[in-house]
Amino acid sequence: MTRPSVTRTFGILTAGGDCPGLNAAIRGVCRAAYDRYDMHIIGIANGYRGLIDEDVRILKPEDFSGILTRGGTILGASREKPFKRTLVRSQPKDYEIGEDKVTAIKENYRKLKLDCLVVLGGNGTNTTGYLLAQEGLNVVGLPKTIDNDIAGTDRTFGFNSALAISTDAIDRLHSTAQSHNRVMVIELMGHKAGWLALYAGVAGGGDVILLPEIPYDIKAIGRHLVQRAQSGKAFSIVVVAEGALSVEEAKMEKKDRKKYREQTAAPSIGYRVAKEIEAETKMETRATILGYVQRGGIPSASDRVLATSLGTAAAELLARGEYGRMVALIGDGIGSVDLSVPAGKVKTVPQDHYMIDTAVSVGTCMGV
Ligand code: F6P
Repeated sequence: MTRPSVTRTFGILTAGGDCPGLNAAIRGVCRAAYDRYDMHIIGIANGYRGLIDEDVRILKPEDFSGILTRGGTILGASREKPFKRTLVRSQPKDYEIGEDKVTAIKENYRKLKLDCLVVLGGNGTNTTGYLLAQEGLNVVGLPKTIDNDIAGTDRTFGFNSALAISTDAIDRLHSTAQSHNRVMVIELMGHKAGWLALYAGVAGGGDVILLPEIPYDIKAIGRHLVQRAQSGKAFSIVVVAEGALSVEEAKMEKKDRKKYREQTAAPSIGYRVAKEIEAETKMETRATILGYVQRGGIPSASDRVLATSLGTAAAELLARGEYGRMVALIGDGIGSVDLSVPAGKVKTVPQDHYMIDTAVSVGTCMGV
């Protein structure tokens, strides 16, 4: 016996970087919406791009059954930003061109007779969802990312799985670093936030952890590594967030920083830090960029539970017609916040976060 619902038909899309748990969340939304409220579900391919191009298909139970443990997203994803205009530089003046993507989205939303659009994504995706809500569409957001950097939710699914993958990699680096008496630098993802590097650094016993939130001083790092060597530990593990930067770089304008980095000929921060450590300490140093491995594979149990809970909570918002909101983990419960809360923001690690003091308390150098 199905229950009454304000929403009859909704579209669902996944956008931004993929992560383990996305399919668990899709399953949570669709199973609850279909089984409990008999809603009609339109799957949208490749994020907002699919809504612009009307690249859609009706989702049936067989589409969202058996996907709980599958990595990635059955819908596909993209980083399409409908509100970002394509600026073409041309004489005599710059001008904006390109299909009006927002108009296309609004037209297709109505053509498909959607009552609501459910968007699963990170900062950018939920920001676009907020802007579309401002344009009059009914939108429900669902936060996901390995970066754990979305304002309004205490944690995002994807983070726990990436934490396990990163910690396993750090464990493996320990044995080879010890065998060769080397300094091993591992660069982790996290975009502009240091959550993944901080938690994986603590979990993996990193001797140095470098975060975007705390610009590093290579001399402080050098002193720490030399002291370790002098105390008989000739190997060290340095965990670097991809958004980390030196105190010198922190003082630069973004364009100057880009030029400076191009001169170092190092493909990313992990290699730059390794070169700086070798120059500073004369210790043999190697770099590992863990990259997209952190986003691959099946979700952890914790991510499956969080993704499913957020998905079913989104279905409840649809049934009650509570649009313009993003479901969220709040404390140890599932709630929701206005879409304006995550819009345009990045949740970075506060300087006074307890995990920083935890790391320092066990002798970790934070680059200062
Ligand atoms: O947002 C998740 C993430 O993996 C970030 O950690 C990383 O900086 C970014 O996506 C990579 O983006 P792309 O998948 O477009 O290369």
